[in-house]
Amino acid sequence: MIMERIYITDVAPRDGLQNQSVAVSTEDKFTLISKLVEAGIENAEVTSFVSPKAVPMMSDAAELFPKVQGAFPQLNSFVLVPNLKGLEKAHEAGVKEVAFVLCATEMMNQKNINMSLAQAIESTLQLIEESKRLNIRSRTYISVAFDCPYEGETPLPRVVELAKKVYEAGTDQIVIADTIGSAAPAQVTERLNAILKYIPAEKIVIHLHDTRGMAVANAWAALQCGIRWFDASVGGIGGCPFAPGAAGNMATEDLVLMAEQSGFDTGISLEKLLYAVDHAQQVLDKTLGGGSIKWLRQNVRATTTLNPKTLNF
Ligand code: HMG
Ligand code: MG
Repeated sequence: MIMERIYITDVAPRDGLQNQSVAVSTEDKFTLISKLVEAGIENAEVTSFVSPKAVPMMSDAAELFPKVQGAFPQLNSFVLVPNLKGLEKAHEAGVKEVAFVLCATEMMNQKNINMSLAQAIESTLQLIEESKRLNIRSRTYISVAFDCPYEGETPLPRVVELAKKVYEAGTDQIVIADTIGSAAPAQVTERLNAILKYIPAEKIVIHLHDTRGMAVANAWAALQCGIRWFDASVGGIGGCPFAPGAAGNMATEDLVLMAEQSGFDTGISLEKLLYAVDHAQQVLDKTLGGGSIKWLRQNVRATTTLNPKTLNF
């Protein structure tokens, strides 16, 4: 039987690390990315070109990116940029894939990038245009697409409208983000189906945080809607410094286990992913891992890609 493929972008080096309290060296970030590549990760958000005052942890982007690109030319290495200055810096560093963030509420844009919603829309459309001119692929987040930590539930028609705008502007992927991890599967289904009336499933990525332990259930709901692109973060590390209450992202190992056991191929080795979790644990000096980590540590042994038939239940 040919297993259907799903695609994972590991955002741990950017979303996972941006909000940590301990300093992480460029070398340790590079090692984390190497371990992800060894595990079979083909897409990663490796850093962000943002104001070092806003996010000090990402201030080594211009040093880290060329090292990663040089060592892993096969990796689709996305970097997040918040404005034209960030795009220029990314272009200078040789970046070929960027991520833009358009928050769906007024307050979240103010907190995240110091712009109003109207300014953020205009800026994002300009960034998409400029990235096309520079021949740089882009993914555009619609952040707080479910709930906003400042404004409560985000109106669905606005989320649909913003997703349509960036799709029509020609961004390559639209990333629907549950920034504070407040969604449940029913809302994921409702919101994705509303968006899917206008945008094909292959253009959509779902980015889930796991604050309420529902990220994997939400990923399953997205799979049922036809979504095949997912963001996740190894060890479940993550959170936005400007979104209070945003806990870690969906753990990559949870997503891979759920998907493979449900008959989807991810191309990722769970055993090798555990080495990346180990490294992140050591660097961040805390216990990490998604809901499946205990089981994985006891059951995933010296096999490469997990074959559901060999699982030892
Ligand atoms: P500002 O203070 O309004 O900007 O910040 P500014 O233009 O006045 O510039 C202030 C200083 O930053 C200046 O330096 C600029 O040169 C510099 P100074 O003259 O003071 O020395 N600067 C930059 N430096 C490097 N790279 C740049 C850049 N731009 C300006 N790109 C700004 C506005 C957007 C810069 C700031 O608010 C910022 O950097 N924000 C980044 C926010 C961020 O990284 N948030 C986390 C990522 S979003 C997220 O996590 C959500 C996501 O995971 C999806 C989800 O879950 O929802 C993606
Ligand atoms: Mg996030």
